[in-house]
Formats: sequence, C-alpha cells, structure tokens
Amino acid sequence: MKAQVYTKYGPPEVVHLATIAKPTVQKSDVLIKVMAASVNRTDSGFRSAEYFVSRFFSGLFNPKQPVLGCEFSGIVSEIGADVKKFKVGDRVFGFDDAGFGGHAAYKVIDENKGIAKIPEKIDFITAAALSEGSHYALGNIRAAKVDANHHVLVIGGTGAIGSAAIQLIKAIGAKVTAVCPGAFLETVKNLGADRVVDYQTQDFTQTDEQYEFIFDAVGKSRFSICKPLLKENGIYISTELGPGLENIFLAIKHQFTSGKKLLFPIPNFTQEDIKYLKLQAELGHFLPLIDRVYEFDQIVEAYRYVETGQKIGNVILKVGEEL
Ligand SMILES: NC(=O)c1ccc[n+]([C@@H]2O[C@H](COP(=O)([O-])OP(=O)(O)OC[C@H]3O[C@@H](n4cnc5c(N)ncnc54)[C@H](OP(=O)(O)O)[C@@H]3O)[C@@H](O)[C@H]2O)c1
Repeated sequence: MKAQVYTKYGPPEVVHLATIAKPTVQKSDVLIKVMAASVNRTDSGFRSAEYFVSRFFSGLFNPKQPVLGCEFSGIVSEIGADVKKFKVGDRVFGFDDAGFGGHAAYKVIDENKGIAKIPEKIDFITAAALSEGSHYALGNIRAAKVDANHHVLVIGGTGAIGSAAIQLIKAIGAKVTAVCPGAFLETVKNLGADRVVDYQTQDFTQTDEQYEFIFDAVGKSRFSICKPLLKENGIYISTELGPGLENIFLAIKHQFTSGKKLLFPIPNFTQEDIKYLKLQAELGHFLPLIDRVYEFDQIVEAYRYVETGQKIGNVILKVGEEL
C-alpha cells in the first residue's frame, strides 16, 4: 500500500512516499481504508523529536513505527473475528497517538481504542479533524472542572486545540473570552466566544475581568503573567512546558499548595471520550475549523505550513482516492 514514511527524526523532508505492507488484522482489530488524515502538532512533535522525551515512546535512535498520522477518517474494510462494534463499510474517525498510521492507505486499530462512527452529515475531511485538538482541549477542560457559571480565558482561539476548546466550553454553558489574531476575530466569535481580544493590538492582561480558568492553548503565556487574572482557586493550564520547563515544576509544587494553581494534566484518551466528541458534533456544538487541505503527495508542504505556527484550526491530508 502507499504510505508516507519516515525512518529518521528530523525536518518535514524526512517524510517520503513509499510502498509498504498493508497492516494485518488481529481478532479485535478493524482495518480502515483511510480517506483523510490531519497533519498536526502531535505528528510534528514525534517526527522532529524536538522534545527528546517523545523518543521514549517512538524509538530512542530511530522511529520504530514508520507511518505518522495520529488522527484519521475512513471506511472499515475488514474486521477481526471478535469485532462487535463495527462492520465493513462503516464510516469511522479516530485518534491513535500510540499506533499512528493515518498517513497511509490503510490503518489498523483495536475496536476498543479511539474510534467511532462518523456522524451522518459530516464528511471525511471534517471528520479527520474531530479528535486531535479536541481531545487535548477536553482533557484540560475536565482537569479544570469547568462548569456553566465559570468565565474561561482561552489564549489561542484559532489553534486546533483552542478552537475546539471554545466550542466545548460553550457546550457546557460557561462564558468564554478568546485571544486570537485580529484577522480572525469574526471566525472566533462564530465559534461561540462571548468576547474576543486581538493579541496583535491588545494586551489581554490589561482587563478588570477575572477567570476561573485560563487555558493557554498555544503555550505563549506564563503562569506568573496570568496569575493576577485568576479568581481565588483559579486554574491555569498551558499546552507548552514553559521556559526552563517551569510548567512541570510549578504543577508539582502546586499539588502541595492552595489557592491559584497551575495544572499540567497528562492526556488520556478513551473510547468514551471519542463518543463524547462525536455527540458534541452530532448536537452541532462542535465542528472542527479546517484550514488547508493538501493532496497526499504534498505532505512535506503540509508539515511546513503546520510548523509556521500560523494555521487556523486543522490541516488535512487527502489519502483516499474517492474524495
Ligand atoms: N508536542 C505535541 O505533541 C503537541 C501536540 C499538540 C499540540 N501541541 C502544542 O499545542 C499548541 C497548540 O497547537 P495547535 O495545533 O492547537 O495550534 P497552532 O496551530 O499552533 O495555533 C496557531 C494559531 O495560534 C495563533 N497564535 C499564535 N500566537 C498567539 C498568541 N500569542 N495569542 C493568540 N493566538 C496566537 C496563531 O496566530 P498567528 O498566525 O498570528 O501566529 C495561529 O492562528 C502548540 O503550542 C503546540 O506545540 C503540542
């Protein structure tokens, strides 16, 4: 089968087209004919091994799994003998940051892992962006115990994580102020943000507002800068480790202190979570923002664009031919 493979860590150019063996199905596996996959910051992080720690999962010297693509959509083409939840022909989407494999014609995954059927009115391109940014958003929203009475500040409302976070927080009923680039204020308002702040012309810290939760979904701020904006017992979470890994150290320290806290939750994704995201999509509460769609042979360009840090939501790779 055709696949975009990488055999060493490095820049986007280490990824190239190759023909490799189609994955085989074990008893509880489904084989998916991949129609689309996102090219995202998780794929970039593992491919570049920018943070050495990722190599403990993907291979110390060279990648063990040659195909990236942790988020995908497609059609079930074969099922294992014990599979109960899916049948051949089902339209499915999912997230798999242990197995990856979405940047190839076929991907195999256990039926009990992060896959679900695509809601009826959602196409393969959109479905390919339903679970990566949103699952990080969901994990952090849950860690901060957001409820309908809260006011949340989302820094980076145009990112894959931030744009999902705004919608999932609004689905809970909380108030959202979002910080984003000036050209996309309207886009972010349309996601449901109650207030928007243009980070290029306004300083979001110059405000009388206070928040129960500040979620820096692009990792550009620091706890010390945001702390005055937090209400008593307010929570701060960032998607980045912070200067000198301060977010790790502060998270450990704050386990033993009371008052305003920084949390650094470890992402954990179950089938219940993907069902929750599917439900939010069905209810019309969550629709991923799609930026550019690339052809399968343009994956290097797709990675380069993702790594500008300027994408608006999600970048998609077309994999299946019927699209
Ligand atoms: N290592 C991993 O496995 C992993 C996985 C997922 C995510 N992450 C991290 O999570 C973060 C978000 O990733 P993502 O894919 O959701 O989003 P993203 O693509 O990195 O977000 C880009 C968007 O954020 C905007 N932005 C940049 N600086 C901003 C600021 N100071 N205030 C408000 N908006 C700003 C950009 O606008 P401009 O065009 O104006 O720059 C652009 O629209 C990143 O820090 C990423 O590294 C890491």
